[in-house]
Order: sequence, then structure tokens, then C-alpha cells
Amino acid sequence: MKHLKWGILGTGMIAARFAQGLASTDQATALAVGSRSLEKGNRFAVEHGLERAYGSYEEMLADNDVDAVYIALPNDMHMEWSIRCARAEKHILCEKPVTVNAGELEKVLAVVKEEDVFFMEAFMYRCHPQWQKMREIIDAGTIGEVRILESAFAYNMGMNLENIRMSNPAAGGGLMDVGCYCVSFCRMAARAEPVECRAVGYIGPESRVDEQATGVLKFPSGAVAFFTCATRCGVPSMANIYGSKGSITVSNPWFPSDDNAVLTVHADGKTETYDIRYGRDLYANEALTVAAHLDERQTPAMSWEDSLGQMRTLDALRADMGLVFDVEEK
Ligand SMILES: NC(=O)c1ccc[n+]([C@@H]2O[C@H](COP(=O)([O-])OP(=O)(O)OC[C@H]3O[C@@H](n4cnc5c(N)ncnc54)[C@H](OP(=O)(O)O)[C@@H]3O)[C@@H](O)[C@H]2O)c1
Repeated sequence: MKHLKWGILGTGMIAARFAQGLASTDQATALAVGSRSLEKGNRFAVEHGLERAYGSYEEMLADNDVDAVYIALPNDMHMEWSIRCARAEKHILCEKPVTVNAGELEKVLAVVKEEDVFFMEAFMYRCHPQWQKMREIIDAGTIGEVRILESAFAYNMGMNLENIRMSNPAAGGGLMDVGCYCVSFCRMAARAEPVECRAVGYIGPESRVDEQATGVLKFPSGAVAFFTCATRCGVPSMANIYGSKGSITVSNPWFPSDDNAVLTVHADGKTETYDIRYGRDLYANEALTVAAHLDERQTPAMSWEDSLGQMRTLDALRADMGLVFDVEEK
């Protein structure tokens, strides 16, 4: 596995978390950070032990020692910077949702293929082995046919219109920020793309994005899924799979950790638990997943086709909800 030297675009919340993750492994290095402000970049580099800081994103992309770039920018910037990274011949791990819509992702993938670089949507939760175990349990027929999926990812950040999550120009909102995890989980567990997508959401008059929403999906097998997401109302995280013969409950679907990553399987009148500990930081694991699959240019954890299906589903849900982003109206 190649030891990748990472460059990080952005100095926000998740950029810091990723840098902390990389600091926990000696199999990858956080080498550089690019910020709109050199002062912020320098502060970030000192805080997280990075060797280099740049006062613009372009300068960081010009650093020949950077192998791979982690794009930790607002959603509306993902397409532009994925394309610029690919043109600079950098491998790419781009935060979720990978673009604003499926059309944007198609443009990114065309350049990724042309430049022959790695590309992955940064759904770190997908890289955790608990999902491999879930698939094995389903494939073994333990819970029978998958029929109903339920999930939730919702938090209450109050009314903060400065935050990118509360911003229509930044393509924010609950669906794009956290509902996308639920959508991605349902599609993964159903192993198919939905044939029907419905959503209702409250679109705030000030934020002009969904602040609480619920969505329903139907899959070709007949399985149905419902999920809840919000930015202004907390709901316990959950991901449950109900089949014709039993069920699987995932204790910690979105941030599985060594303290809490348990699958509980009810079937045939028995209950079995699987405690999936693997001793790695979630974000370090994501970076190492990139390195392990670098030559394939994509990962089974979140392939290009998977991201396309994901963005098409989010597009359909937003259309049903009546949520259009400013960048789409230009
Ligand atoms: N996978 C996960 O666990 C996870 C968790 C949270 C967020 N995310 C995703 O990561 C991305 C960033 O989220 P975040 O929470 O880190 O956001 P954030 O704290 O607001 O940071 C975003 C960074 O982007 C840069 N930026 C460039 N133009 C900006 C603008 N117009 N407004 C605000 N920031 C701008 C800023 O860095 P400079 O000023 O230094 O250039 C800023 O620090 C989003 O796509 C989000 O969906 C993923």
C-alpha cells in the first residue's frame, strides 16, 4: 500500500477531524493545507503538525509532493475543486455530498477518467467493516428477504445562518448534510437503486434549505425505506434492517468506533450480537482505504457508480421536496 502524502483543502471542522485521523497512523501523512487565508492555514498547520501551509487552494495544488487531496469545502465548491485537483493530477477524496447534483458529478467523473486519478466520495462510515458484516448476514439469508429499512441522522444546531448547513448558496440543508447518510445506507442495504423517491421537508424562509425532512424510497425488490434528517431537531441516530425472517439493528451507524460498533441480529427466535472492533480511527481508516485501492482509482466502499446513484436519488428527493439550489438556477 502506498504511503500517501495528503493535502487538505479548507480549515474547517471536518478538515481538522481528518488531520487528527491522519495523525493517528504512520501509514499516511498530512503534509499540507490550503486555505483562503495564509494566517488560517498556518494556524491549522501548527495545530495539526502539518509541514506546509498555503494561502490559496491553487498553491497547494501546485505542490508536487502532495499525492492526494482531501476536499473539505462547502458542497457548492466540490465540483470545481474536484476538477481542479484532477487537472493537477492529484488523487481525490471529496467530502459528501460529492457534488450539488448528478449532472455536476458526471462532469467531475469525465475529468477524473481523462486524468486517470483516484476519486471517492468521503463517506467515511462506509469504510468501516461493520457494513461488510451486515452484507454477509443479509447474503447468508439469516433475516430472509430485506423488506423495510429505517434510518435517522438529525441534530439541532439552532438557527445559525452563517453556517454552510443553513445556506442555500452553499447547497446546504439537512438532506445534503446528514440525510445523505441515510440515503446511502438504504441503497447499500437494498443493493439497488430506488424506483420511487418521495420526500417532504420544511424549507426555512431564511435558510431556504430543508431544516427537517423525511424521505421514503421504494426498491425494485419491493423493499421500502424511510428516513428522517434535520439540522434543527435532534433524533437518535439509527439504521435498522427488517427482513422476512428477522432484523439487524446497527448500534452506531454513522460514527462507528471501538467503543460502539455492534450489530444485533434477531432471527429464528434468537438474538446474536457482533461487536466489530478494529482499532483504527474512522478517518484514518478512510484515508488508508483510499491508499489500498489507489490503483483501481475507486473503492468498493463507495464506487463512482454508487456516488452517481446516490446523487440521482438526492436529486429526486429534492425535486419532490421542492428544494432547488441557487447554483442550479444560474
Ligand atoms: N464526513 C464527515 O464526517 C463530515 C462531517 C462534517 C462535514 N462534512 C462535509 O465536509 C464539508 C465541509 O464541512 P465543515 O463542517 O468542515 O465546514 P466548515 O467548518 O464551514 O469548513 C469549510 C471550510 O471551507 C472553506 N471555505 C471556502 N469558501 C467558503 C465559504 N464561502 N464559506 C465557508 N467556508 C468556506 C473554509 O476554509 P478556508 O477559509 O481555510 O479556506 C472553511 O473552513 C461539507 O461538504 C460537509 O458536508 C463531512
